[in-house]
Amino acid sequence: KPVHVAILGATGAVGSEFLTLLAERHFPLASLKLLASERSAGQQISFQGETLTVEAVQESSFEGVDVVLASAGGSTSKRWAKVAVEAGAVVIDNSSAFRMDPQVPLVVPEINPQAAAQHQGIIANPNCTTILLGVAIYPLHQVQPIQRVVVATYQSASGAGARAMEEVKTQAGAILRGEAPQPEILPYPLAFNLFPHNSPLKENGYCEEELKMLHETRKIFGEPELRVSATCVRVPVLRAHSEAVNLEFSQPFSVEKARDVIAQAPGVRLVEDWQQNYFPMPMDATGEDDVLVGRIRQDLSHACGLELWLCGDQIRKGAALNAVQIAELLLEKDWLKPGQHLATC
Ligand code: A2P
Repeated sequence: KPVHVAILGATGAVGSEFLTLLAERHFPLASLKLLASERSAGQQISFQGETLTVEAVQESSFEGVDVVLASAGGSTSKRWAKVAVEAGAVVIDNSSAFRMDPQVPLVVPEINPQAAAQHQGIIANPNCTTILLGVAIYPLHQVQPIQRVVVATYQSASGAGARAMEEVKTQAGAILRGEAPQPEILPYPLAFNLFPHNSPLKENGYCEEELKMLHETRKIFGEPELRVSATCVRVPVLRAHSEAVNLEFSQPFSVEKARDVIAQAPGVRLVEDWQQNYFPMPMDATGEDDVLVGRIRQDLSHACGLELWLCGDQIRKGAALNAVQIAELLLEKDWLKPGQHLATC
């Protein structure tokens, strides 16, 4: 049955991808409402031949709405998610506001779809690097439990929003003209440069982004003891993240077996041409639904270790696609209303 959907943050990088995906996946829409801040109220956006007008979010915005797809930042979600839930909607929230709340399921449909059944009105979409990592390594974890993950990320500008993507292009132009790049949204020049992720630093020396990869992976996998150490880096790529991943198992995990598992797993694609030295690249992952995985090899320094490389579209599977897949799961399983549904996945 078609449902009434609202997009909160409809003018942003993830917001516009929600529109693309709803059309592309023939999501059963009874109506679609576009919400953002006062700044973009009145802006017109075309969707499937119709012109929709962006509205400034307000108390009455969620009346009659069944599903809210939210990607407007943590403070906006904190302000509006409960209003939407009280109006009877289920909120699928892409911000970090509720991810670690024990009452809120944190869901990647390929990994823990059953968690969505227990929602109380809000379902959190995980951090983008965490989703991409999880989709790639969970199938291996199911064959043989992973003991420890060491990961370095190469994160695109899109993770900092649509304006950060524009800023990289502007900076590249400025540098090519011999001018000084002007950082406004991002803290430092990103074109022809890179820098360690600028999320707030904690006393243990990790930044928040790195700790999200630890805590969120544990919650999604249901493995509270899993060891994860991440180094997150912002690179001058527009919209796909890459990750260099080292996995440690308790027993050796053969490369051939790992390739077979990855080749058959949902949401991932094995991309390896060892003759041509061709492996996943962010440019090839851009616009793709699958996480591309390659360079699977034995860790020379550890008998029970595997190395792999992955690239995934940050805006798609890292954000908008995962949220839309959660919405599709709720419709398919009839889990829209909050409650203790019997998980059947
Ligand atoms: P607006 O365009 O009106 O600022 P991105 O992650 O690409 O930067 O996008 C952020 C999205 O969140 C935009 O659609 C933006 O709308 C929206 N947004 C930001 N702050 C608010 C707010 N206070 N209330 C509603 N929407 C907001």
